[in-house]
Amino acid sequence: MKNMKIGIIGATGKSGLALTKEALKQGYRVVAITRNPSQMPNLDNNSRLTIRKADVTSKSSIKDVVNDIDVLISAYGPTIDSPQSIHEKVAIILIDIMHECPNIKRLLVVGGAGSLLNDKEEILLETSAFPEEWKAHARTQAQSLERYRGSDIDWTYFSPSLMYLPELPTSGKFKIGNNHLIVNKEGKSQISYGDAAGAIINEIREHRFVKKRFTAGYDN
Ligand SMILES: NC(=O)c1ccc[n+]([C@@H]2O[C@H](COP(=O)([O-])OP(=O)(O)OC[C@H]3O[C@@H](n4cnc5c(N)ncnc54)[C@H](OP(=O)(O)O)[C@@H]3O)[C@@H](O)[C@H]2O)c1
Repeated sequence: MKNMKIGIIGATGKSGLALTKEALKQGYRVVAITRNPSQMPNLDNNSRLTIRKADVTSKSSIKDVVNDIDVLISAYGPTIDSPQSIHEKVAIILIDIMHECPNIKRLLVVGGAGSLLNDKEEILLETSAFPEEWKAHARTQAQSLERYRGSDIDWTYFSPSLMYLPELPTSGKFKIGNNHLIVNKEGKSQISYGDAAGAIINEIREHRFVKKRFTAGYDN
């Protein structure tokens, strides 16, 4: 199990770096996939870390660097000025890669909170609680979740809480849910990048959300 090799697309990003650190901490081998290898910081346990250059918008580029990995995580994140169609384009590429690379047994995707439901069963991105400037991206990100749901691959989609916060500490004390936003007593929906990474890397071992979406957040 711990011999498993995990490929992490977007490993230099906030989610990707937290996931890389957590996977190394849990004893896995990691292939950090980035367009900019020089941006990858020096990490503890780095004898189990390999850095490879690839671009997630090019299927052949990703295929060139994943031939020895067992589990693929996409922590790719577009900038707000990227075309909204990018989410579906990347989902189609990742589904194709799963079909064409039989060595990869599972795909885990770090996506958005917008497609989660609130306690009134409303889709979060259709409510005023969701930041207006991210709504268009969140809609196409929600469509990419539907692509995974309609596929025959072994996928898991992680939606963070509404507030996905690098400055919050890694507490290890978070709640896991399926399709509903997790909120605390004050109605706040929050998770740190470190705790989200813990939830996602734990899922590789636990297999609780195969072909499902899940979320994590603090309930107090
Ligand atoms: N509350 C929410 O719903 C919420 C909030 C924040 C983020 N998110 C989601 O979380 C996910 C990860 O976000 P994040 O905050 O961790 O992002 P981030 O810190 O901006 O990092 C994104 C990473 O994506 C990589 N990337 C960008 N274009 C790429 C390409 N063409 N090929 C390969 N890698 C590429 C970049 O790495 P390189 O430039 O090194 O290649 C970058 O490090 C996204 O799906 C985002 O929508 C959700």
